[in-house]
Amino acid sequence: MQFLLNDELIDDNTLPSDFTALRYLREKRGLMGTKEGCASGDCGACTLLVGALEDGELTYSTLNSCITPMQSLAGKHVVSVEYLSKSGELHPAQQAMVACHGSQCGFCTPGFVLSLAGLYEKTQRSEQPIDREAVCDAISGNLCRCTGYRPIIEAGLSMTKEPMIKVQDAKETSFVELMSKNDRVKTQLERLQTEPKNSRNYLQPNDLEQLAHALKSHPGAVLIAGGTDLMLENTQRYRDFNTLIDVSNVVELKHLQIGEAALTIGASVTYSELEDFSKPLYPQMNALLSRIASRQIRNRGTIGGNVANASPIADLPPLLLAFDANIQLLKHDGSTRAVNIADFYLGYKKTQLASDEIIASFELSLDKLAQFHRFYKVSKRMEDDISSVMLAVRFDVDHGKLSDVRLAFGGMAATPIRGLKAEAALTGKAINDEQGLNQAIDALRSELTPMSDMRASAKYRLDMACNLIRKAWLELNGTDVVTFSGHAVSDSLLSTGLEASTHA
Ligand SMILES: Cc1cc2nc3c(=O)[nH]c(=O)nc-3n(C[C@H](O)[C@H](O)[C@H](O)COP(=O)(O)OP(=O)(O)OC[C@H]3O[C@@H](n4cnc5c(N)ncnc54)[C@H](O)[C@@H]3O)c2cc1C
Ligand code: FES
Ligand code: FES
Repeated sequence: MQFLLNDELIDDNTLPSDFTALRYLREKRGLMGTKEGCASGDCGACTLLVGALEDGELTYSTLNSCITPMQSLAGKHVVSVEYLSKSGELHPAQQAMVACHGSQCGFCTPGFVLSLAGLYEKTQRSEQPIDREAVCDAISGNLCRCTGYRPIIEAGLSMTKEPMIKVQDAKETSFVELMSKNDRVKTQLERLQTEPKNSRNYLQPNDLEQLAHALKSHPGAVLIAGGTDLMLENTQRYRDFNTLIDVSNVVELKHLQIGEAALTIGASVTYSELEDFSKPLYPQMNALLSRIASRQIRNRGTIGGNVANASPIADLPPLLLAFDANIQLLKHDGSTRAVNIADFYLGYKKTQLASDEIIASFELSLDKLAQFHRFYKVSKRMEDDISSVMLAVRFDVDHGKLSDVRLAFGGMAATPIRGLKAEAALTGKAINDEQGLNQAIDALRSELTPMSDMRASAKYRLDMACNLIRKAWLELNGTDVVTFSGHAVSDSLLSTGLEASTHA
């Protein structure tokens, strides 16, 4: 398998399938700038920038190298922190970090610098200004335990400001600007695209035909998409994988389109891709996606991986339940079947997916997407945290009455689950019938028995779930409900996380 590492073309066919990019850089290339903090995608110390050709354009995005198999980056341009500062020329992200005192012990710094460099390069292309929201988004997967985030955010904000405080003798250099001048990287990636990406233990089919062939010829192989769940089994539980089949490049699984009656989301669509797509069309969906994990994880993690992994605290299954989504399953022999998401989960981490099937896509009815819907994710931190409770709501309204209701939860049972009795209590009621709302809340208390764990107690979860239904109902009725994030809220409010208030 071949890839570009900084300015070197690498050809290496010796790697185990699950050998991470982080290990490759540090152990095989001696590139120690990339750090290992957690080996689970949580701290961002291992962040890399990776360039790929998309529709002929060279674009760069960040990822966590500690949970990314090196072989999944075949045909890509892997940029480590060493490359940003060749010959003493600092990238604007580095200059800004120096000028704003954004580093103390320095352990986290390469990761932050690459996240900020990724933002810088993206905004250079799109000519968007860099605002605080964009900086916080870019570094949402980077932890710093000693500097504090204020100087780092200031560094992000000052990257494009003129005149920026200059580090003595440093020249401002954007590596993408340099690349685009000589087109060397682009030309090399174009050539690599024509090279086979498969190795003996890591297969990367480009289409369904190649996937079918890979599945048939490697019956014991494990599927991997972004690897943001699967690779934790390797780095946290020391499970070795033999052959991996990477579905993230299968073109038919990347479909993201609005048809006559349904929105189709291919299984290998990443969170970042769905985020961009949903921004102008489905702002509520977009807002939920921006609360999932970090930018690095969203650049890799897929919708299919989230659903197949079958975690009861995953965020997409409640959303799909709210819209009664259909899942298209594809058998290895090419035949297909559709399963409604409501029937997909059979028990804790058990699904209807047979051993000879993969998830191909999800279909969400446009009519249902047009109805009132909300997604509420409650977690201990705003950035890069798993839900303690998640509620996805759909209220269909007909002549002032609730004609259909979906209340779908994550974190409340062994599987993603609907509050069927609560839904029934609201259905047919006038939208402003508060008695009906209270009946639904009572029903929910009787039908769900969440567990206590490190994220939340059973009582907290149930109280929160009830409050979230009330919040959705208030919003349906035109009341703004202010949700406080953890750091802005007093202890008493933390018990509910909510305060209802009517704004003129
Ligand atoms: C730091 C961190 C934060 C996270 N935060 C969140 C969060 O906020 N919310 C959340 O919901 N999740 C979160 N996750 C979990 C994870 O990112 C998501 O579940 C992600 O969507 C998994 O997708 P993937 O492509 O990485 O799947 P992979 O890890 O590649 O695969 C997961 C499983 O799905 C199977 N699989 C993949 N694709 C298919 C397919 N097409 N058909 C059949 N099986 C398939 C694989 O074999 C594997 O068993 C987080 C993970 C990390 C590491
Ligand atoms: S080492 Fe912490 S995210 Fe990779
Ligand atoms: S500078 Fe020490 S962890 Fe960030």
